[in-house]
Amino acid sequence: MKSKKLIIGNWKMYPVNMKDAKATFSAIKKVASTLRNVQTVICPPFIYVSELKKLVTGHRVVIGAQNVWTENEGAYTGEISPTMLTSLGATYVILGHSERRAMGEADELINKKVLAAFKAGLTVVLCVGESMRDPDGLYMKFIATQMQTALHGVQKKDLSQMVIAYEPIWAIGKHATRPALPEDVLEISILIKKTLADLYAKDGATVPILYGGSVDAKNAWEFLLKSQVDGLLVGRASLDAKVFGEILLSADKVK
Ligand code: PGA
Repeated sequence: MKSKKLIIGNWKMYPVNMKDAKATFSAIKKVASTLRNVQTVICPPFIYVSELKKLVTGHRVVIGAQNVWTENEGAYTGEISPTMLTSLGATYVILGHSERRAMGEADELINKKVLAAFKAGLTVVLCVGESMRDPDGLYMKFIATQMQTALHGVQKKDLSQMVIAYEPIWAIGKHATRPALPEDVLEISILIKKTLADLYAKDGATVPILYGGSVDAKNAWEFLLKSQVDGLLVGRASLDAKVFGEILLSADKVK
C-alpha cells in the first residue's frame, strides 16, 4: 500500500441526491481507474454506499464510510454497524473526524469504534489534529495523546488495516484561518511516525499517513512531495469530479 498514494474523498453530507452521487462517482472513476500509482477511496453518506458499490469495477476505486458504531447489532437507534458496512462492500471507514468530535465524540468512543471496525475487517482512517497552534508546541502533545487513546488495544497485527490522517482543524473547510504549509504538515507527519514507533516499534512504519484540510488541485502535489505523507484526505474538492481528477492525476505522478 505504501508505494501507492492513497487519496480519499470525504463527501461529508453531500451531494443532495443519489443521481448526483452516482454521476460524480462515475466521473471520478473514469480517471481513478486508469491510475496505477493511486488507490482512490470515496466515502459518501451511508445511504449512497450500496448504489455506488454497484458502480465499482476493479480495485483502483473503492468505497468507504464516514462513521460506524461500536457494536454489530443491537438497540442503537440511528446507528450503522461495522458488519452492515462490510456486507455492502465498504472497505474503509473514517473515524475521529473533527466534525464528529465537535458533535461530542471523545477519544474513548473513537477507540471503541476503531476496535469494532478492525474486527469487521474495515480499514480505519483515524483523523487527528489540533484546533490551534500554541507557541509552546502543546499541540504536539495533544495529537500524540489523541493517537495513543484512539489506538489503545490496537495490536501490531491490526496495523495493515490502519491509516492516520492529520487534519488540523484550523485548515479545514470554508472557515479555514489559513492553508497549512507543507512544513506544518511535515512536522506532524514526523510526530505521527514517532508516536507509531513508540507504540509499535518498526511495525509502526507500515502505517500510511495522510494530510487533509483544504487540499485542492493546486496544492496536492506539494503536500505529497514535501510533507512525507502517503496520501490525502480531501473534503470539498472531492465533490468536484474535475478538480478531484486533477488531484488524482498529480498524485499518480509524484514518486
Ligand atoms: P476540506 O475538508 O478538504 O473541505 O478542507 C477536509 C476534511 O474535513 O476531511
